[in-house]
Amino acid sequence: MMTTSGNDAIPSPQRPHLQAPLPGPRAAAVLERDRDLISPSYTRSYPFVMARGERVWVWDVDENVYLDMTAGIAVTNVGHAHPRVVAAVQEQAARFLHMSGTDFYYELQIHLAERLSAIAPGEAPKRIFYTNSGAESVEAALKLARYVTGRPRVLAFIGAFHGRTMGALSLTGSKPVHRRGFAPPDARGHSCALCLLLPVSGQPHLPHMWRCLP
Ligand SMILES: Cc1ncc(COP(=O)(O)O)c(C=O)c1O
Repeated sequence: MMTTSGNDAIPSPQRPHLQAPLPGPRAAAVLERDRDLISPSYTRSYPFVMARGERVWVWDVDENVYLDMTAGIAVTNVGHAHPRVVAAVQEQAARFLHMSGTDFYYELQIHLAERLSAIAPGEAPKRIFYTNSGAESVEAALKLARYVTGRPRVLAFIGAFHGRTMGALSLTGSKPVHRRGFAPPDARGHSCALCLLLPVSGQPHLPHMWRCLP
């Protein structure tokens, strides 16, 4: 049976196309390597090992073809390998890959901010704060809400996932495994689990902080 793919009416073999048993041999080998090296705090539920994608279709490393209903947890909204997205990424990569917008300026981030603020709801003028991830967005929202309201408390719902960083995790209530071991029973104790030291010149008090290390 032949079907059409996307809106270009090009016939494509029947999809999805799966060969049992799953995971296939290549996927099983990847899972084995993953088990030893990748943090167990990633709570993957399905043994799907991505090889490549084309719009709504994704191939695993054993050439099984799936209909992608996840869209990168809703962040790849135009599907995989969209030619315009690929071209834009290639063009930018050839120009420059990264120049921290928190320290310097570049026109592209203003251009995107103009477009985002034009479609963001509400009449009030907008300002954009770019983040690297969902968790960082939640952290930023937490900080902004406290800054603006001066109020300390935040309401979240049981069952919700907000991310794995500390602030976002404090609001996450979906799976116990995300939180287990990260919140000490008595967080008011004096013992210190970790001192984060960023060497910055002109901070002579820093060496004294080593005393709190176990
Ligand atoms: C609703 C929601 N908030 C926050 C996050 C955290 O995003 P990230 O994994 O990019 O930090 C996720 C990720 O699954 C999410 O689904």
